Amino acid sequence: MPEIETNHRDSELFSPPSDVRGMTELDRTAFKKTVTIPVLKVRKEVVNKLMRSLKRAALQRPGIKRVIEDPEDEEGRLIMLDPYKMFTVDSFEKEELSILKQLNVNPQISKYNLDLTYENFKSEEILRAVLPEGQDVTSGFSRVGHIAHLNLRDHQLPYKHLIGQVMIDKNPGITSAVNKINNIDNTYRNFEMEVLSGEENMMTKVRENNYTYEFDFSKVYWNPRLSTEHSRITELLKPGDVLFDVFAGVGPFAIPAAKKNCTVFANDLNPESHKWLLHNCKLNKVDQKVKVFNLDGKDFLQGPVREELMQQLGPLSKERKHSVHIVMNLPAKAIEFLSAFKALLDGQPCGSELLPIVHCYSFSKDANPAKDVQQRAGTVLGISLEACSSVHLVRNVAPNKEMLCITFQIPAAILYKNQTVNRDNHEDPPLKRQRTDKDF
Ligand SMILES: C[S@@+](CC[C@H](N)C(=O)[O-])C[C@H]1O[C@@H](n2cnc3c(N)ncnc32)[C@H](O)[C@@H]1O
Repeated sequence: MPEIETNHRDSELFSPPSDVRGMTELDRTAFKKTVTIPVLKVRKEVVNKLMRSLKRAALQRPGIKRVIEDPEDEEGRLIMLDPYKMFTVDSFEKEELSILKQLNVNPQISKYNLDLTYENFKSEEILRAVLPEGQDVTSGFSRVGHIAHLNLRDHQLPYKHLIGQVMIDKNPGITSAVNKINNIDNTYRNFEMEVLSGEENMMTKVRENNYTYEFDFSKVYWNPRLSTEHSRITELLKPGDVLFDVFAGVGPFAIPAAKKNCTVFANDLNPESHKWLLHNCKLNKVDQKVKVFNLDGKDFLQGPVREELMQQLGPLSKERKHSVHIVMNLPAKAIEFLSAFKALLDGQPCGSELLPIVHCYSFSKDANPAKDVQQRAGTVLGISLEACSSVHLVRNVAPNKEMLCITFQIPAAILYKNQTVNRDNHEDPPLKRQRTDKDF
């Protein structure tokens, strides 16, 4: 085996063969390729000692063994070296040469013909080789249990089945790849999706913040990017608090809250979400603590929520020390539902410290999204919320589109019948200053 003399860097070395460009149906055999790799010939008994010192110089590729048998010598081994770093004896660093000397290894670098297959390429390398040159190949996806949920761009669509299969092949545990067909603008916020490759079965199981959820992903809403928000709200709750979850989905606010010993009323209009919500309450052993409803959000607020608030905030409420929280996570529409709080309750208003705390989600494309959400929520309620609410940025949904959560106590003047509302700056005493998340 002659020593490699050139230090020419071949950037195409680990790219799949060029004739896979334009492939729309995955042919794994077309990815076979032979590359010449620098290797170091050593005796098998020094391999372990040597590998610790040759971390920098050794080849690092998925699925490629760094040490193989020497085809010319039964007692010998070949250590694969990084072809971008190792060209001649001079490529070794001083310390590496000294270890080689200590172990009596000849530092001469030889060549070895290595056969690469589909298994040895990373998903991005495969897609970059297949899709049209110069176009974006982002291979990112949201993982929901065994499902990879992709959001492909138009130029990627001719390759959608191949992309789906590559995602399955290259990500252990993923056995199905789906693509979002349109934006979630249907009532139940579930995606219309097409199975690109793998299992058609959308029944899945996920873990979020130590709780388990099971559901049919094709029929309900689930977004793994909301896990931090789910725990942020759960952490605001204290044992004994009451939580009304108006748009509960399959339970990611309701179940952790119930586990914290809160009393939970959880609602969703989608019969499938309602079914899986009930199921997940049992699965997480909180079915005794969660009352589950299948109503329109407005009917839920004006029915079960009203009834419970009349009791919770009634004359006996003076002894009550627990807070009432109302979560409204339907960002495209939840602000409209705030009107249901207007004159919801009869009788004498409760103490201001007992007034329910609303966490209402919204999208905004405004240059000042926090102010935009405060203004829109305030307009629905007929008051100014700017001085008495906090707005939390949940996540960036798309370029120039944010998801936010506005949190405020519902003023008694809004919640109770026959109250006078000061529209500019309502007069409930504890609401005069800007609240921070820590206040709740
Ligand atoms: C954005 S998802 C949020 C689900 C869950 N809270 C979460 O964080 O994952 C909104 C939920 O509201 C439900 N929904 C949509 N319109 C509704 C309405 N008018 N009344 C009650 N629920 C509704 C959908 O079925 C969906 O499960």
